[in-house]
Amino acid sequence: MRIILFLLVFLSCIGCKKEDTTHIKKETIPENSVSNFRESYRPQYHFTPPTKWMNDPNGLLFYKGTYHLFYQYYPDAIVWGPMHWGHATSTDLISWTHQPIALYPDKLGYIFSGSAVMDINNTSGLGTKDNPPMVAIFTYHLMEGEKAGRNDFQTQGIAYSLDEGHTWTKYKGNPVIGNPTSIRDFRDPKVMWHEASQQWILTLVAGDHAKFYSSSDLKSWTHLSDFGKDKGAHGGVWECPDLFPLQVTGTDQIKWVLLISINPGAPNGGSGTQYFVGDFDGTTFTTTQKEPKWIDYGTDNYAGITYNGLPDNERTFIGWMSNWNYAQQTPTKEWRSAMTLSRKLTLHNKKTYYLKSYPVHTIDNYSYDTNTYDSITNGFSLTSRNFNEMRIDFTIEGVLKDFQIQFSNIPNNKLSIGYRKDEDAFFIDRRASGEIDFEPRFAEKIHTAPALLDSNGRTTFSIFLDASSIEFFVDQGATVITDQFFPEQPFTVMTFTSEKTKMEDVTVSKIKRIWN
Ligand code: FRU
Repeated sequence: MRIILFLLVFLSCIGCKKEDTTHIKKETIPENSVSNFRESYRPQYHFTPPTKWMNDPNGLLFYKGTYHLFYQYYPDAIVWGPMHWGHATSTDLISWTHQPIALYPDKLGYIFSGSAVMDINNTSGLGTKDNPPMVAIFTYHLMEGEKAGRNDFQTQGIAYSLDEGHTWTKYKGNPVIGNPTSIRDFRDPKVMWHEASQQWILTLVAGDHAKFYSSSDLKSWTHLSDFGKDKGAHGGVWECPDLFPLQVTGTDQIKWVLLISINPGAPNGGSGTQYFVGDFDGTTFTTTQKEPKWIDYGTDNYAGITYNGLPDNERTFIGWMSNWNYAQQTPTKEWRSAMTLSRKLTLHNKKTYYLKSYPVHTIDNYSYDTNTYDSITNGFSLTSRNFNEMRIDFTIEGVLKDFQIQFSNIPNNKLSIGYRKDEDAFFIDRRASGEIDFEPRFAEKIHTAPALLDSNGRTTFSIFLDASSIEFFVDQGATVITDQFFPEQPFTVMTFTSEKTKMEDVTVSKIKRIWN
């Protein structure tokens, strides 16, 4: 009986992502005033919506000293529903100010994921030379079309703001890209200015591949080429692409990176983000890469994209810290889901090209009460009132050997991370980390990540713990594992176990909360 009940709830929740309710248009005051941001499991230094449901980051754009973060938002429930674009701003990518909702569903559909650009030269004519428009490019998802059994219910639309993202107007000529040949999954446009060919390039996904388009005015788009049907991982539908150039560290070489989120089919189950390193000539993306590469091996970093408009060709990435396997069942009540820390992406080449992703340096400004230890050896335990708002950095010298760091609390919830020599893999084990039974796949296995070492016999580690998340970075982000967990109480003990190695140059810092 229990199993049948569970199956019913599970199946109905898969359906939730597709459920229709009436289109909502109401006043745009975010309800952050009602929350003190101290509810159970509420992250203290990661972005969360003021209330209710959030998924993908959208429209990441830096303009005039402000980082804009838009996001998939359903302001009426803590499950997925008619999508809006929520909005927040920051000056350092760590502390955020909630802003009024930017985009509401309309008669063309829900507002699915997409991107934003500053149209500085007013190529679109939607602003003026003196007051150029901020333009958002997103997918319209017409639920009525889907329900009627059609396949052409996803199209691309644009909206513009003439007051730096505060208020938005939808373009009258929407959709700007119709659904060409009834492609069911046809979404998530990411737009960039392509300097070499002096045009806008738009990348979107169409089920099992990416499509590239070009435009001179953001309104009229020409299909250029497709990529990926026979490349990379295909365990699920492709979502949320991002195409950008990046300099290979220590060289003058520029390569192009294509991020593709995929659900399901990630290395540890469910949703994850793969990437390709190759070349883009203004028309076509090519790569010689054979194996899929993953930006993060944890189960909780999905649909991540990078900022447009950053100076010095920097690339900063934010992902949604959840997984469609269980995103709608996690045990929070007032709101659901957080974003990863903002991470700087760098590209490297040692035998093969690979990305590193590591928290932006401004996070260092949030550390306080730092304790340092020259070394920590087998069986050593540290205690703290609350390890869940902390950062731990350390080094291991020499060839890596088995080790484990376990966080625990009075109710004996346990969260472990470490390295296993026989698999040459890092791991996070959240199987006994507290509330785990809201969805069977949440705690079904240990999450592992191959050691993609960059270290020359000296490996650095950084661990960021928040109320309900851990981000584990090896060698400044050569290997990353990001996982959520839901302990009954904060962790108070940290124990290191290893017969063969020790932690060195250890610093343990508290991290300031970002909400006032
Ligand atoms: C990814 C995704 C996108 C889509 C959005 C809808 O998580 O499925 O492909 O645009 O979420 O909310």
